[in-house]
Amino acid sequence: MTWSDTTELSAHAEKLIRGRHATRAFRPEAVPEETLRAIFALAGAAPSNSNAQPWQVEVVSGAMRERLAGSLQTAHAHKRVSVDFPYSEEMYTEQHQARRAAFGAELYGTLGIGQDDHAARAAYDAESLGFYGAPHVAFLFVTGEGGARLAADVGAYMQTLLLAMTAYGVDSCPQGLLSFYADTVRDELGISEGKLLVGISFGYADEAAPVNRVATPRAALTETTAFHR
Ligand SMILES: Cc1cc2nc3c(=O)[nH]c(=O)nc-3n(C[C@H](O)[C@H](O)[C@H](O)COP(=O)(O)O)c2cc1C
Repeated sequence: MTWSDTTELSAHAEKLIRGRHATRAFRPEAVPEETLRAIFALAGAAPSNSNAQPWQVEVVSGAMRERLAGSLQTAHAHKRVSVDFPYSEEMYTEQHQARRAAFGAELYGTLGIGQDDHAARAAYDAESLGFYGAPHVAFLFVTGEGGARLAADVGAYMQTLLLAMTAYGVDSCPQGLLSFYADTVRDELGISEGKLLVGISFGYADEAAPVNRVATPRAALTETTAFHR
């Protein structure tokens, strides 16, 4: 690669990677079939341990998307939670918790939901099971025994997919919340294999929605990264 190629590529990468944001309000228009195929074909270029590619991807649109949103909201209302990857608040350090709290204050502040208004926050979360209005959702399943190393591969696939979407002008929101209803998703899609890591709602952003302008700063480089010689 020549100097000018890498300069151009890094400029594109800066734009692509920094141009991706979680979108929480979508317009209803569907993504054209051809674009869908191009995005998911590109995402398949993600790296994985020994090239095992331990992901199974289920893309849901149209009538199935409507039915699934309804079933997820029903499951939520009846507290029918089922997780394949255990979750606990304990897994976070104090530093993680501080970053999460700052993010929550920014998100719910933008939505006009107060710090201690737990009912309104819960209602917003329940509403989000409708994929924030996105016309499509992709569920990422980890195949095999589904341990941490395989899940990490699927994490690499997820970010590759999110960037492929950005490159094709498609907006997205990874939703860990969807993975709390793994059995509901499996039942609706008629599948029995794999562990559900995350769902990704996607489509075209409603640019007028203030929630799509929530700022999410990152930790300074020195806080997360050390260079050794
Ligand atoms: C694995 C994963 C799960 C997430 N789960 C949710 C979710 O359930 N609901 C939601 O609104 N955002 C969710 N997000 C989006 C994060 O809040 C968002 O990525 C983070 O705040 C950084 O903001 P940015 O993506 O706009 O850069 C999730 C992101 C990831 C990577």
